[in-house]
Amino acid sequence: MGISAIAPIDHEAIGKVLMPFGHSYNLPAHAYISHEVFEWEKKHFFEGSWVCIGRSDDLARPGDRRAVQVGSESVLLVRDEGGCLRAFFNVCRHRGHELAAVGPCDNARVIKCPYHAWVYALDGSLRGAPHFSDRPGFDRSEYPLVDVATAEWRGWVFVNASSDAPSFAEHVGSLAELIDGHEPDRLRCAARHDYVIDANWKIITENYHECYHCPQIHPELCRVSPPDSGYNLPPDGAWTGGSMELMDHATTMSLSGESSGVLLPGLDSKRRREVLYFGLFPNLLISLHPDYVMTHRIEPLEPGRCSIECEWLFPPEALAQGGFDPAYATEFWDITNREDWSACEAVQRGAASRGFRQGPLAPIETEVYEFETIVANGYLGRPLRPLTRTSAGLSLETGQAS
Ligand code: FES
Ligand SMILES: [Fe+2]
Repeated sequence: MGISAIAPIDHEAIGKVLMPFGHSYNLPAHAYISHEVFEWEKKHFFEGSWVCIGRSDDLARPGDRRAVQVGSESVLLVRDEGGCLRAFFNVCRHRGHELAAVGPCDNARVIKCPYHAWVYALDGSLRGAPHFSDRPGFDRSEYPLVDVATAEWRGWVFVNASSDAPSFAEHVGSLAELIDGHEPDRLRCAARHDYVIDANWKIITENYHECYHCPQIHPELCRVSPPDSGYNLPPDGAWTGGSMELMDHATTMSLSGESSGVLLPGLDSKRRREVLYFGLFPNLLISLHPDYVMTHRIEPLEPGRCSIECEWLFPPEALAQGGFDPAYATEFWDITNREDWSACEAVQRGAASRGFRQGPLAPIETEVYEFETIVANGYLGRPLRPLTRTSAGLSLETGQAS
C-alpha cells in the first residue's frame, strides 16, 4: 500500500470497531468528518483498491474513451482496436497536459493531446510528436502512455490506480457465484439517477447494509419485503452481503409489488422470491431483484459529501417489449433512496457534533459490522477483509488472526 499505510485515526477507537461481533462499536467521528482521514482513504481505499467506474457497454466500440476520477487520480479508459479495454493515467508524456476532461464517453481513432497535439494509438503507443524529428535521438517508443490496472467483470469496469492492490480475483472472491444467476453481464441500463448527498461515503454503505431502520423510514419497502427477513452471506473477498425475502403478493420491489419486466431466466425458485444486496468495497452496491439489478456507484467528494450514480439494469427481452417502462422499479427505489439519503445526512450532522460517541451495533447489523471491519482493518494497514459473525477477532498488536 506504499507510504503511510496506517490511517491518521485513533487506534483505540478502531479497536472497538474490531471487537468480536456482538461487542463492537461503529466507526469514530473522525472517520466521517476528518479531511486527513478522507485524503488517506482516497489514496488507500480508492486509488489503492479496485474502484468500479461504470459499465463495460458504455465503452463498447473501438475508440470509445472516457476519463474518470479515481481518488485523486484521473484515469483514461480506452477500448482498443482489438476490443481490449485499456486504462492509462490521463497524462501526456510530453509536458503532462490532461489528455481528456473527466466526463462522458467520447469516440475517436486516436488519443490526441489537446496542448501540442502529440498523438497516441489506442494501445497507448506514441505515434506522432510534431517537430520532434529535429530532436537528436528522439525515439517515440520510449514515450507510451503509462498503464493503469483495469478489470472487466460481469459487465462492470474496475480500475486500480496504484496498480499494487491484490489481484481482482482475490478482491471479489466467490461473489460471481452468487450473482451469476442474474447474468448481470447481459443486462442493459434503462434508467439512471444521479444524487449528491451531504454525507460521508461510508454512511451510505452502512445504511445500505441494514434494514433495522426500515420500519421507521421505509413504509413502501415494508409493504413488499419483511424488514426482518433474509440471511447473511459469509464473505470471502472485499465484500459483504445478504438477502431479503419478498412478501407473498410481491413479484419484485415496486410500489405495488408487481413487475412490468421479465423474470430473469437463470434464477431458481428460491432466488425468484428474494432480493440480494451486496457491497463490493469500496464503492459498488449491487441489488439483485428477480427481474432487474440496481446498482449504486458511490464517489466521495468531501468528508461530508458524496455523489451516487444509481442505475437500473434489465434483460434485453424486457427492453424489447413494446412500451417497456422501467418506472415501476425506478419510482420505488427513488422514493426509498431519498428516504435513505435524508437519514444518512442526519447521521452526518450527528457525526460532526461534539456530542457524537461510537455507538454499539445491534445483533441484526451483521453486514454493517462486516463493512466497518473492512474499513477498520484497512485503517490499520491490513488486507481489506471483513471480520464476520464468527471471527474471533484480530490482535491489534500483530495483525494476525487469533
Ligand atoms: S503536453 Fe501533450 S502534447 Fe504537449
Ligand atoms: Fe434504507
